[in-house]
Order: sequence, then C-alpha cells, then structure tokens
Amino acid sequence: MRVPSVKDVPVLMNPRFVLTFGTPLVALAGPRINLFKTAGRSMRGVDRRCLKTGVPSHVRQPCYRHLEERLLMDHVSARAVGGKKEETHMRAVVYHTYGSPDVLKLEEVQKPVPQDDEVLVKIHAASANPADWHTMRGAPFLARLVNGLFKPKNPKLGVDVAGRVEAVGRNVTRFQVGDDVFGSMPLNEMGSFAEYVCAKEDALVLKPTKMTFEQAAAVPVAAFTALQGLRDKGQIRQGQKVLINGASGGVGTFAVQIAKSFGTEVTGVCSTRNLDMVRSIGADQVIDYTREDFTNNGQQYDLIFDAVGNRSISDYKRALSPTGICAIAGFTNLRLLFEHMILGPRRSKAGGKQVGLMETAKANQKDLVFIKELLESGKVVPVIDKSYPLSETAEAIRYLETGHAKGKVVITLEQNNNT
Ligand SMILES: NC(=O)c1ccc[n+]([C@@H]2O[C@H](COP(=O)([O-])OP(=O)(O)OC[C@H]3O[C@@H](n4cnc5c(N)ncnc54)[C@H](OP(=O)(O)O)[C@@H]3O)[C@@H](O)[C@H]2O)c1
Repeated sequence: MRVPSVKDVPVLMNPRFVLTFGTPLVALAGPRINLFKTAGRSMRGVDRRCLKTGVPSHVRQPCYRHLEERLLMDHVSARAVGGKKEETHMRAVVYHTYGSPDVLKLEEVQKPVPQDDEVLVKIHAASANPADWHTMRGAPFLARLVNGLFKPKNPKLGVDVAGRVEAVGRNVTRFQVGDDVFGSMPLNEMGSFAEYVCAKEDALVLKPTKMTFEQAAAVPVAAFTALQGLRDKGQIRQGQKVLINGASGGVGTFAVQIAKSFGTEVTGVCSTRNLDMVRSIGADQVIDYTREDFTNNGQQYDLIFDAVGNRSISDYKRALSPTGICAIAGFTNLRLLFEHMILGPRRSKAGGKQVGLMETAKANQKDLVFIKELLESGKVVPVIDKSYPLSETAEAIRYLETGHAKGKVVITLEQNNNT
C-alpha cells in the first residue's frame, strides 16, 4: 500500500502552507490548542480566589494564564482586587477584537507569576515585528480559524523583550534576580508589550553589557530570521556573492551584517533614501530598487535572501548562479506566496538553482548565544529606526505596517534604557 505523502493533503491543510503563513498562524495556533485541550478543566480548575491573591507557580499551568487574565479583565475591576495593585497588576497593551492599531489599548491586567522553570522579567524595552500586526489584524483571515473567528484568545502582543530579572522559578539555574536579559517569547505566548512578562529560562540570554535595553530588544526575531534564512535555508558559505532584498528593514539590516560575518560579498537592495545606511552596515554594493531591477541587470548571485518576497520564481532564477539558492522570508501577497510555496520546490533542482520559502524562524538559545557573540564582537549592530513609549504602541504598529521602517521599531518602558 502506498504511504500517503504531504502532496496528498489538500493545499489549505498542507503543513507547508501552515508554515508559510508561519508567523501569524503559529502565533495563534498555540493558545488555541492549549485552550481547547484545557477548556473544560480550566474553567473548573481556575479558582477565582487564586486569581485575586496570586497562586504559587507550581499549582498553575502556563496555558491558564490567558484565561486568568481574561477572567480578571472581564469580571474583576482592577481596583476591586485588594489594595496591592502594584504587586498583583501591571500595565499591558491588549486587544479584544481583531482590527487596525485602533484596537490596541493600554490596560491594567494581572501581573504574571513565574512557573518553576520561568523567569519574571521587568521589561525595559520590546520591539515590534510584522507578526504583531498580522496577529492583531487576524490576517490572513485563515489565522482566525486557529485563534477564534471573532475575537483573539490571547489578548496580548509582542515577542521580543529586554529587561531585568525580577523573580525566578524554583528550577531556574541560569539566571538570578537583577540579571539583565534579552530574548523572545514563543509565538503562542505573546506578551512583551507590557511591564512584565514570564519567560522560560532557555528563551533568554544575558544582555551584552555594552548594549542598551532598546538595542537588545531590537534583536531576537529579526536576527533569528536572518541567521536561519541565510545559514539553514540558504546554506551560506564564505566567499559567496549574496544579495539581500529588503536590506533596509528589520530583518534585512541583520541579514546584511550576518552575511558579512560569514565572509561573503554582499549586495543590498533598498530604496534611494536608505542607500547610505545599507552601505554603512557593511554592504559591498547597493542597488536602488526604484531605479534598477536586480533580477534584470545581468548579475547573478550564489545566495539571495529575500525579506520582501515580491518577485516571481522566474525572476529569482534569472538572478541566481547555476547552483544558487534563494531563501524567501518576506510575504507580499497570497498569489506570490502560493507561487513561492508550490512552484518553488517544483522548479528547484538538486544541484541546480533552488528557490523556496524559509520556515518560520525558531527562537532558540543556541542561536541567541551565536547572535550575542556577533553583537559583542561588533560585527552586528542593531539599527533602530524609531522608539515609542508603551502608551504609543498603536502608533509603533501603525508605522511598522507601512512596510518602510528603516531597521527596527522599538517600544520603551519608563524604567529607561540604561546599559
Ligand atoms: N519567516 C519568518 O520567520 C519571518 C520572521 C520575521 C519576518 N518575516 C517576514 O519578513 C518580512 C520582512 O520583515 P521585516 O521585519 O524586515 O519588515 P519591515 O521592517 O517592515 O521591512 C520593511 C523594509 O522593506 C523594504 N522594502 C519595501 N518594499 C521593498 C521593495 N520593493 N524592494 C526592496 N525593499 C523593500 C523597506 O524599504 P524602503 O522603505 O526603502 O522601501 C523597508 O526597509 C515580512 O514580510 C515578515 O512577515 C518572516
């Protein structure tokens, strides 16, 4: 009997499809799965008195956290929860319905309590990624199938974080109170646009002492994406000719610098206003996409890393050397997404030109340590476009959504950004 393969699965159920929608889908899948798994139990199991008083971490499951906060927000006014507002509550950016940045509100919610293997981080800075606005809008619409058709199950946003350890769970060994750390939350536990967040200890590393919290918060997701796209999908090697499309954005600015750190010759594609910046972070050549088409200028590259995803498979193949690889991270529209996902693998040949989507970048401590060493050596320096206070997170997301950020967009907390 023939063993069914991935090709037998209808397109919308295909794991490659889900991976391609990556960030928003995966971001939303986790909470949904958790909530379904535990819905009956959790509504019975969560003791409202515990919500008010704070429960020892070992008797609560992490998947209850969103439910608890929702129960609090829905049924318990912040003022009514005892007189210890500063200990049990914090401010966080939340949204209760999908939509534009107008849906984002700064509200009082329950301050998270770390599990045994978690660290409570007092957030000094966070950074925004396209995943935040995809999740906030529930777009592509299919994302709502996993996070709730009409309203989001997890009301918080934000994955990238930098801050100071305020408390540690009993099994935490790598960090202690007072350590300055940075890292990223799993996509199914978003919540760094807030005053506090709990993170597993393997999601964090110590912040380089010479970096500000703002700089550190700008790093994780964008640098993971650039590193994993270049190294894992793109199989980057010293001496190669590498082209970065979207070289001036959050991911692109890391991709240019990380590609240089591998000893490659880098060409960055950006618009006129960003040419100098992309040169300044190490690009050997720059191409102004408003004047020149990198797929039609006769040049060929061993590796193309595309943080925009706006070209056809034929375009990429024209710009690739005979054994070149194109790793696509960016999402522009559904037509190109399907083309990259379905035609890319079919028109790629082993030992010949290969074009394909990279998987959703995976946060992991090993890569974060690798990136931290690049930061400490000065080979990679975060490019920060704008910083917004937590209360103006909606403006930050609105700006990021324009698709023309020049590096990263950062959210800062009042505790400031001292190194
Ligand atoms: N697979 C994953 O795990 C993963 C993770 C993170 C992000 N992503 C995806 O990667 C993409 C980039 O993310 P990001 O954080 O870098 O976004 P971003 O910061 O919003 O990137 C914006 C940049 O794109 C540039 N750009 C816009 N149109 C362009 C064009 N036609 N040609 C060249 N550059 C152009 C803009 O430069 P100008 O202002 O000069 O036009 C701007 O600097 C997004 O689609 C995101 O969803 C994927």
